[in-house]
Amino acid sequence: MNVFISIQIPQTGIDLLEAQGYTVTINKERRPLSEEELIVKCADQDALLYANSVKLTEHFFRRCAHLKVVALMSAGYDQIAIDAAKQYGVPISNTPGVLSRATADVALLLMLAVSRNAFHLSQQIIKNKWGFALPTEKLGVELYGKTLGIFGLGKIGFETAKKAQLLYGMKVIYHNRSPRPALEAQLDAAYVAFDTLLEQSDVLSVHANLSEETSGKFNREAFRKMKPTAIFINTGRGGLHNEADLIAALNQKEIWGAGLDVTNPEPMHFDNPLLTMPNVCVLPHIGSATVETRDAMASTAARNVIAALAGQKIPQEIT
Ligand code: DGY
Repeated sequence: MNVFISIQIPQTGIDLLEAQGYTVTINKERRPLSEEELIVKCADQDALLYANSVKLTEHFFRRCAHLKVVALMSAGYDQIAIDAAKQYGVPISNTPGVLSRATADVALLLMLAVSRNAFHLSQQIIKNKWGFALPTEKLGVELYGKTLGIFGLGKIGFETAKKAQLLYGMKVIYHNRSPRPALEAQLDAAYVAFDTLLEQSDVLSVHANLSEETSGKFNREAFRKMKPTAIFINTGRGGLHNEADLIAALNQKEIWGAGLDVTNPEPMHFDNPLLTMPNVCVLPHIGSATVETRDAMASTAARNVIAALAGQKIPQEIT
């Protein structure tokens, strides 16, 4: 069996595949391959382990209908034309769960960093502008006892809420496509309408999948409904917020600050105004970027490939 890996991944995943006796080919270039290049590379392959965000459209699945699986090394699957994959009978799997803790850590990191203006103040030191501060200056706000709003109560949203509760006793409200009673009970959280989430959250943390339904959900209208003291956090996908509207909302002080691990596009252009706003912290999509989590993601993706090639049920198949 032949397996193509779209870019260098942790050895844990490669070892699992090679232990099966598969012929494993890895793209060793320091860049993602285009859809067209992938079609060529996959021509004689049985499976693709895919760890990039370049979109795989209907065109790819039409040309690669022979693949027995496209195993993503990500929880998100917005880069895949799922309907086309189904149409051409190519199963798709992802790696949910194993990255929840690491990604929730980044959501917390951003909440704290924004609430204390940490990135901006650190930059001031680097620019030799530590200077003198009055007791009324360089002040942040505290998270203790505040209301955390979760948009998308899946595994990562749950983990984020749990940490925020344990650390800061935050009250949790959430909005989801449909209520999640079991998770809700564990968090003593309340399911609320989208507008209520906007109106009541002191910190609003976004964890939903990017889809037609959620794309640009956080727009000017939404930001205007939020508290002027609110902090907006996005560790999901950059497409969930409208960037121009976020910039306008921050400039007009409709919200207090923002922390982003995801942007649209990625990488963010270096002269983006968000990067010089004192109340904004931006990170380069590092939610799952820990040694432990990337190892687990690579192994999970490899196990999905192995199951598919053995004709078994694919553990994390997206249905
Ligand atoms: C995911 O898995 O979807 C994360 O964003 C990591 O890239």
